[in-house]
Amino acid sequence: MPLSVDPILPAPSPDASAHSQRLAEHIAQEIARAGDWIPFSRFMELALYAPGLGYYTAGSRKFGGDGDFVTGPEISDMYAKCVSRQAAQVIEAVGGDVLELGPGSGVLAADLYGELKSVGRAPERYLLLEVSPELRERQRARIAERHGKDLARFVWIDRLPEKIRGLVIANEVLDVVPFALVHRRDGEIYERGVSLSDAGFVWDDERLPDGELKRRAHAVLPPGDYDYLTEISLAAEALVRTIASSLEAGVALFIDYGFPEREFYHPQRSMGTLRCHYRHRFHGDPFFMPGLQDITAHVDFTAMARAAEQGGAEVEGFTTQAYFLISCGLAVLVSAGDPTATLSKLKATSAVHRLISPSEMGELFKVMGIVKGMEGPLLGFQSARHLPL
Ligand SMILES: C[S@@+](CC[C@H](N)C(=O)[O-])C[C@H]1O[C@@H](n2cnc3c(N)ncnc32)[C@H](O)[C@@H]1O
Repeated sequence: MPLSVDPILPAPSPDASAHSQRLAEHIAQEIARAGDWIPFSRFMELALYAPGLGYYTAGSRKFGGDGDFVTGPEISDMYAKCVSRQAAQVIEAVGGDVLELGPGSGVLAADLYGELKSVGRAPERYLLLEVSPELRERQRARIAERHGKDLARFVWIDRLPEKIRGLVIANEVLDVVPFALVHRRDGEIYERGVSLSDAGFVWDDERLPDGELKRRAHAVLPPGDYDYLTEISLAAEALVRTIASSLEAGVALFIDYGFPEREFYHPQRSMGTLRCHYRHRFHGDPFFMPGLQDITAHVDFTAMARAAEQGGAEVEGFTTQAYFLISCGLAVLVSAGDPTATLSKLKATSAVHRLISPSEMGELFKVMGIVKGMEGPLLGFQSARHLPL
């Protein structure tokens, strides 16, 4: 199975290449069995989550400086400090657990639990929904080091609980839930999928059958018959809907890069938002080294809000990451540091700058808070600018 190469991206080690080759063969076999075409969503599911082989289910480093990307909780502990203030409000009001989806390296779990405990608001349990056995081990080791005595309160789960009370948090999760690619060309709408050729994986469009994806594509694509390629994430919507319906009392926070629908499906965004992350470079080729890179798209928050409402929750707030963190007290937390520790203060300030600067994560990243069985307003949206959805 020939793998796509890129002279600009750093070459993987021989072991990593061999791993990617195994995953590529696995995907190729599935494409052959399916009659030489699978939808892109299935390709993405296999590339990221094929048991023991996918990017998130095998051992690649992923997070942090020597991985492929850095997330908010990895950048600064101020992230967890701010979220903990929001979490404390929820735990105080309804009690219960914290449930974190896709806890990554475990840094948010360790920091957030520590902060909550320090203000007497430790959750009954800290649930971690993690699909990767390797990441579970990484998370467990980190949490055991910080909170060894409380380790029994941390519970790893493989599916959403039927009932949830407390706070749910999903940071950069919705963007990696497999999405469909839809492609309008010559006035027709197709689903973009993947076939095999002598040169490896190739794009291949098939006409969209009647169904939800087609209906949605017609509803969201901007008018006209010019070429337009974009993403629709019905699976991410289903995840939000399920969380909303399982929520008995409390709040779910979804934090991710994305836009409301009218910006997402803007006429000028005619090439979509698909983006792959590999060793801190991003590019648009999901066929490059499957299993060694992340594959993502921006989130359509209007669709997520609708899904939350279908699940019986209310959207209590939607704002930028910068406004949310500031509303949670970021400025006070930053100035509370020791003013004589100049170097660490400077480092902390520059990390905070990354979290809130409009040219970094501050504006592109949004926070959507949904609530059920609890009175608002929520701290993180109290003084925050509410964006239209
Ligand atoms: C980009 S990482 C984010 C990690 C971490 N939240 C952070 O901010 O550092 C995305 C994580 O979401 C997880 N994920 C994807 N789909 C999920 C789902 N349906 N339920 C729970 N976790 C999921 C992936 O396995 C992965 O660990």
